[in-house]
Amino acid sequence: MAKIAKKQKTTFFCTSCGTESVRWVGKCPACGEWNTYKEELVIEDSGKRAFSAGISSGVATLLNEVQAMKSDRFQTGIDEFDRVLGGGFIPGSIILLAGDPGIGKSTLVLQAAAAMKETVLYVSGEESTEQIKLRYDRLGLSSTTLHFLPETELNTIRGVIEKLSPSLVVIDSIQTVYSESLQNTPGSVTQLRECTASLMALAKKMRVTVIIIGHITKEGTIAGPKILEHIVDTVILFEGESSRFYRILRAQKNRFGSVNEIGVFEMQDIGLRQVLNPSELFLRERKSNTTGSVITCSVEGARPVLLEVQGLVTPSNFGNPQRVANGIDYRRLSILLAVIEKRNNQRLSTANVFLNITGGLRIDETSIDLPVCCAVISSFLECQIDPKMVIAGEVGLGGEVRSISNVEKRINEAGKLGFERIMLPATSLKSIKNNTTGIEVIGVEFLSEAIQKAMK
Ligand SMILES: Nc1ncnc2c1ncn2[C@@H]1O[C@H](COP(=O)(O)OP(=O)(O)OP(=O)(O)O)[C@@H](O)[C@H]1O
Ligand SMILES: [Mg+2]
Repeated sequence: MAKIAKKQKTTFFCTSCGTESVRWVGKCPACGEWNTYKEELVIEDSGKRAFSAGISSGVATLLNEVQAMKSDRFQTGIDEFDRVLGGGFIPGSIILLAGDPGIGKSTLVLQAAAAMKETVLYVSGEESTEQIKLRYDRLGLSSTTLHFLPETELNTIRGVIEKLSPSLVVIDSIQTVYSESLQNTPGSVTQLRECTASLMALAKKMRVTVIIIGHITKEGTIAGPKILEHIVDTVILFEGESSRFYRILRAQKNRFGSVNEIGVFEMQDIGLRQVLNPSELFLRERKSNTTGSVITCSVEGARPVLLEVQGLVTPSNFGNPQRVANGIDYRRLSILLAVIEKRNNQRLSTANVFLNITGGLRIDETSIDLPVCCAVISSFLECQIDPKMVIAGEVGLGGEVRSISNVEKRINEAGKLGFERIMLPATSLKSIKNNTTGIEVIGVEFLSEAIQKAMK
């Protein structure tokens, strides 16, 4: 009698957050995303999963008595990259680098890998040795410690890592890596999770740093389950519009450093060039004689950056006026527009309001409130803001200007770039100890007062 083939068991995974379900569901109950469930084969081996970061002997130890391993960081050779990492790579850490297609992930990592003195293994499943060599030559790189492996099978990659024992391994990209012991296709939730966990266990065991490059979905989130972001130590995003020349590197999560630091790069024919003074870059194309343009100083991590905030207010011919916020939270803009309308008596409810932070930066700092209000009112009244003035401050619902931090850093950066005046919350002025730049500091208490003093 013919043997009936055993039906393979399948299960469903949410590709956004990794939640498992025995049946397909339209909306994920965990993350609320629609149409994210994909069917995958159930892993039958039920073997041990390599999720643990350290090998436990089953005995708990007193943390006080644990001899901590020295975690001497090693540098990439690219200062902007090191800054975002928190000062370089920690041996044994695993880093997820994600970004839009073609943004320059492979270029950045190849440049960093070639600039390092330590042994590096670059594993690519996306490009052949010739393609990588073409890029290597185009970027004018030369390294005696950089090894290349065109491979996608996990165990082969693990074998090479164990044999070569490099300081850094680059996996370009994790979506192409697969484990033969699983029947799921490369890039599936199960494969991503298992391969990352396996690489993490190896990284911790051998104290080798691993950078895994990940794709971003069309919605802008890191492709693959959220669990990937939980497993790794650091999540770094490489952002920017591929049509524009600058790129921003920022940490979304970092177990070994601040998440506020940014690294700024310029994409050129010969690769990515570090931008050591981003203020100059962001103000480069500024036209100082337009309405709705305000210069502000935002502190990203430890570094102050000067930026231009642009506001455009136009009459709305339809009942429903448009509001577009590019670079700040949309709800924050709505609140500020309500404050302007109520406290400053400017009727914006019948006007379209467009707001843009130039340079493609996204600012979450509250010091952006006052420049946003000034830019919107400047465009609404068709009245120019003093082009030699930098403005920063938080705006409360009562129209009051509230204090902000890092005042001295902002004053110094504005002075360094040749600005003559800086407008700050009056309550922040007492934290200024010395102002060596000679820039005039103007303190304001209310939005209406700020507008009066800022208009030319
Ligand atoms: N010959 C070239 N001359 C100048 N710039 C180039 C050249 N080739 C590629 N580039 C630049 O490099 C970018 C692609 O870089 P890279 O391949 O590192 O991106 P990626 O993020 O790794 O892409 P993917 O997601 O496809 O792997 C292109 O968008 C382009 O700006
Ligand atoms: Mg690439």
